[in-house]
Amino acid sequence: MSHQHTPPNIAVVGAGAIGMLIYHQLTASTTPLLLGRNFTLATAENQAAQLTLEPFSGKVLSADDLAPDDLAPETQACLINNLETVTPEQLATIELVIVCVKSYQVAAAITPLIEKLPNNTSLLLLHNGMGPHLQVMDALQKQCRNDINLYLGTTSQAALKVSNLHVRQTGTGKTVIGHFHGSTLAPQLLSLLLAAIPNSQLSSNILLALWQKLIVNCAINPLTAIEQCNNGQLAQVQYQAHINAIAKECVDVALADGIKLSLADSVATINQVIQLTANNFSSMHQDVKHQRMTEIKQINGFVGERARKHHISTQINDALTAKINQITEDKAQ
Ligand code: PAF
Repeated sequence: MSHQHTPPNIAVVGAGAIGMLIYHQLTASTTPLLLGRNFTLATAENQAAQLTLEPFSGKVLSADDLAPDDLAPETQACLINNLETVTPEQLATIELVIVCVKSYQVAAAITPLIEKLPNNTSLLLLHNGMGPHLQVMDALQKQCRNDINLYLGTTSQAALKVSNLHVRQTGTGKTVIGHFHGSTLAPQLLSLLLAAIPNSQLSSNILLALWQKLIVNCAINPLTAIEQCNNGQLAQVQYQAHINAIAKECVDVALADGIKLSLADSVATINQVIQLTANNFSSMHQDVKHQRMTEIKQINGFVGERARKHHISTQINDALTAKINQITEDKAQ
């Protein structure tokens, strides 16, 4: 394909499951650059490698399962480089950087990259939870990079990293992106992005869309992690009062932050996601189970942090944050 020889105009930061999935989806129309940590590279160039994707089978598979025989893995050319050592010259043609690391890794991944980016690059942050956009805005200001634009987004696609440069898609879902700061993307690049990511759309109020998703995460993620259950168990009547109370605090804080949400709609959305993802284990449940760092600080923790700015009390969300921190610390011992 001819586009494989053109210099990359999109960089994907994060060679985790979602980063590799988005990279694969973009290869239908371009060859992006995948920036990861600890790639062992033989040359100082952006290096050619192979990326393997197992398409979505319709079933939830774990890392130890084999994909069904009828779904052959797809392998394609992939351009890689190291996040830490990539040079401004190797990034010279980049117009868009899609950041697919965990929410707690965003600031550390992006801060050293900012000075190497060409003028007028756009960043798109794609993670669970909220908060890193404020850290990125600070970093842009500190480094006097007012020319860099910021887009925010959220994806409900799911994937599992099988091994290095090998990913399995484990779920489909909506991706929403929206403009947050600076200039907007060139229309052609925006169309390419929306066409490449299935079920993606542009939101004219991305903070509203992110808060809507945040409320769902504030209820499902800590409760499933604490109860050690799948999402579907939260449909039981005994959880409804707690879910309502979590959502009520979120709606109040969002309003103080200038984002108007309906409590009834928010609770209805939470219950709808519980039904639609009944057999899934939430990301926080899995993080706790596998003793990984959770995104609690960027989920219920973000609500608490914004609440304190507005002198609002968020006892229920704070208690969930404390409980998850206690569980993960206990597990770390
Ligand atoms: O974090 C997650 O797991 C997902 O965002 C959600 C929507 C809670 C479903 O599991």
